[in-house]
Amino acid sequence: MSTPSLDQLNAALATVNDPEIKRPITELGMVDSVEVDAAGVVHLTVLLTVAGCPLKDTITRDVTAALTKVPGVTGVDLQLGVMSADQRSSLQETLRNGQAQREIPFSRPGNLTKVFAIASGKGGVGKSSVTVNLAIGMAKQGLKVGLVDADVYGHSVPAMLGVADARPTQVDDLIMPVPTSSGVSVISIGMLKPRRDQVVAWRGPMLDRALVQMLADVYWGDLDVLLLDLPPGTGDVAISLGQHLPGAEVIVVTTPQEAAAEVAERAGTMASMMHQRVVGVVENMSYLPCPHCTAEGKDHRLEVFGVGGGDRVARTLSQRFGHDVPVLGRVPLDMSLREGGDVGKPIVDADPTAPAAKVLLDVAATLSGRSRGLAGMQLGLTPTSKF
Ligand SMILES: Nc1ncnc2c1ncn2[C@@H]1O[C@H](COP(=O)(O)OP(=O)(O)OP(=O)(O)O)[C@@H](O)[C@H]1O
Ligand SMILES: [Mg+2]
Ligand SMILES: [Zn+2]
Repeated sequence: MSTPSLDQLNAALATVNDPEIKRPITELGMVDSVEVDAAGVVHLTVLLTVAGCPLKDTITRDVTAALTKVPGVTGVDLQLGVMSADQRSSLQETLRNGQAQREIPFSRPGNLTKVFAIASGKGGVGKSSVTVNLAIGMAKQGLKVGLVDADVYGHSVPAMLGVADARPTQVDDLIMPVPTSSGVSVISIGMLKPRRDQVVAWRGPMLDRALVQMLADVYWGDLDVLLLDLPPGTGDVAISLGQHLPGAEVIVVTTPQEAAAEVAERAGTMASMMHQRVVGVVENMSYLPCPHCTAEGKDHRLEVFGVGGGDRVARTLSQRFGHDVPVLGRVPLDMSLREGGDVGKPIVDADPTAPAAKVLLDVAATLSGRSRGLAGMQLGLTPTSKF
């Protein structure tokens, strides 16, 4: 068999995406040299963006697999190198697409990414669980989904997605979101701390800087949807996001038990501070399907936390804003939902036919099907952010 041509090898390499940047390694300047010897062994050097890149094994495996498929290739001798400072800055330029630095792509005119901020009146209502499951639900529909954990009080999102210990790769001042097995890319405010065990009180200008960093300095690529897990209640995060993401839409998570007026007040105030539209309410921990009756195929719901909280919040918000704020879904109590979060395998992935998963998948479909045009009906006009 004749030795393969360099064109064939390059074409094969162009099918390999960098796992974090999600673009072909050939476009990113990561393939340093390629040669093939008379015996058909390919010798090549692939440059990692940073030394000790956590995904070097994935890259090695994908490159080897792609080259092995080329007829005539008998072996792959892959060396890993590291980009020089110059190579990294030209990569940054490629990724920033010639744009001015520190621009938030989601607030640029013509932005096509839908941005949903998930809010709640208080903590512990399942906001993070709902957020990660919606994110994965949308990824399962084939959408490119990014997730920002902006909860300054606790960063549970990475653990729920199975990447608790991951640190993002940084190419100079450009940060790569952490890829997860479900396809959702994630960045958490907890990942921006210099040390993991450090306790940081995220407030004021420092918090604002961290939020901007997660939006502008993270290479998100072309996302279809960006979800943000907000801290409960109102506060600094809401003010910052209002300035930086005026087009975001807000989803309120509540339980049947919560005082509707209070939830609506907090979440509603936040949304109006942010000039953001509240698009719906998710009632979580709505009921417990009675184990006995369910086993007999009957629908019997135990109303552990009372009834009607979601409806009351939705009604109050509808009145306040003068547009319909629907209840998007009622998520039952489900042990496998909690377990999925604990082990980093959320229920819509681990057990998609469970009743709670079905509701969350439905809500995900409703949200991704929403026409972008509706987002134009904001509460006020806010100029796009400047730095
Ligand atoms: N529908 C549900 N069924 C069973 N357990 C649930 C459900 N929703 C949430 N939980 C569990 O309740 C706990 C709190 O949920 P979660 O962390 O998502 O809430 P949160 O509103 O983000 O809380 P925090 O304010 O601490 O960030 C978690 O252990 C989670 O697994
Ligand atoms: Mg949370
Ligand atoms: Zn029963």
